[in-house]
Amino acid sequence: MSPKPEDSTPASRPSETAPGSIVIPQITIGAFCETSGVANAAGAAASDRRMQRTRMSVQMGGLPAAIELYRSSPTPNLIIAESSADEATLFGQLEALAEHCLTSTRVLVVGHRNDVTLFRDLLERGVSDYVVAPVDVVGLVGTIARLYRESGAQRLGKLCAFIGTRGGAGSSTVAHNTAFAIAGEVGRDVLLADLDLPFGTVGLDFNIEAPHGILDAIHEAGRLDDVLLDRLMTMRTERLNLLTPPLALGGAYDLRETEFDELAELARSSARLTVLDLPHMWTSWVRRRLIDADEVVITATPDLASMRNLKGILEFLKNARPHDAPPKLVLNQIGLPKRAEIKPAAFAEAVGLQLQAEIAFDAKLFGGAANNGQMIGEVAPRSSPARAFAELGLGLVVAREAKVERRGLKRLLKR
Ligand SMILES: Nc1ncnc2c1ncn2[C@@H]1O[C@H](COP(=O)(O)OP(=O)(O)OP(=O)(O)O)[C@@H](O)[C@H]1O
Ligand SMILES: [Mg+2]
Repeated sequence: MSPKPEDSTPASRPSETAPGSIVIPQITIGAFCETSGVANAAGAAASDRRMQRTRMSVQMGGLPAAIELYRSSPTPNLIIAESSADEATLFGQLEALAEHCLTSTRVLVVGHRNDVTLFRDLLERGVSDYVVAPVDVVGLVGTIARLYRESGAQRLGKLCAFIGTRGGAGSSTVAHNTAFAIAGEVGRDVLLADLDLPFGTVGLDFNIEAPHGILDAIHEAGRLDDVLLDRLMTMRTERLNLLTPPLALGGAYDLRETEFDELAELARSSARLTVLDLPHMWTSWVRRRLIDADEVVITATPDLASMRNLKGILEFLKNARPHDAPPKLVLNQIGLPKRAEIKPAAFAEAVGLQLQAEIAFDAKLFGGAANNGQMIGEVAPRSSPARAFAELGLGLVVAREAKVERRGLKRLLKR
């Protein structure tokens, strides 16, 4: 067992939050439970998307079962052991387990007493962490992530995938304007990657004739690193970098499911926030990017077809990432003349989501901005859409729990 480096207590430590941007490394985990509550949480955690690289086995029997098993087989990277035993028994069992443990093996104890003295004693004995039952899936994944967070991982970035419910819903417009607002008003570094290889508009929208950075990022698979990525990006503002698709139609783009994995990983390992502008497609690679994203933003138009498509996407996301927060919903092009529309409140209620932003149809504003290669925040910074993009960007940047900072930024935006 390796010593526990951090000095925190179960009582003083802030509660674990959804470790959105964390992917736990390739480790093996053995969970030995006593109660069905902990066993269920461990079983569900094993299928969480952040644990996709890990291999976890869950069994009942607590520490005695672990000691029995590891007497004759090598220990995994992490042992999770639930124990409701008294202190003397628990320490005795841990000592017995330690005899069979590889030095690299860590032990996480799930106990039933919120006792700081016990916690300190356990850490002194080489236990990596102690959490108090009941544990939930997100809390458990968060605890494991904290144990395996590398020194630089504090700098982890966040991937936000933007997709529309139908072609032309305005998803790219929302993605580009939100990225611009994050870099501008919210003041954070953003990478905007246009993954619509044949028809992407990021170059047009920002009025830049950039080389096809996104295509090179795919071609350089295997060699992609920070330095190369920096070279492929085009700087729009000090804080906003773009990865642009080719200017002209090339051959066919039959992308593999894992095509953007490397880029996503690299983007996530940087401190910044990455906006992925996904095309309106339902291919395996698009679905993979949605499953992998830390946040999903869906842009819908207020009509029946959009609602039906949105329900399908929501169901897919719920099945594929059951422990994540629901996606953020933007209703766009509200009030398009002569279109039969569903009222925003009724639309949101029907799909069971809160509306993050409502944006009116405004051909003059959006058409004008697009023609000039400018963002709404540049041509009409005080307009309602500009504020909506800034609010949306703020919601993506600021963690839910950071309420103080969030309030401060909100005041900033109001100004
Ligand atoms: N609120 C709005 N009012 C008026 N026009 C808008 C609005 N939002 C977007 N548009 C316009 O609608 C068109 C389609 O927008 P956009 O390319 O962003 O949609 P998309 O969902 O990304 O489409 P695709 O399916 O091709 O990816 C653009 O010309 C854009 O300027
Ligand atoms: Mg688009």
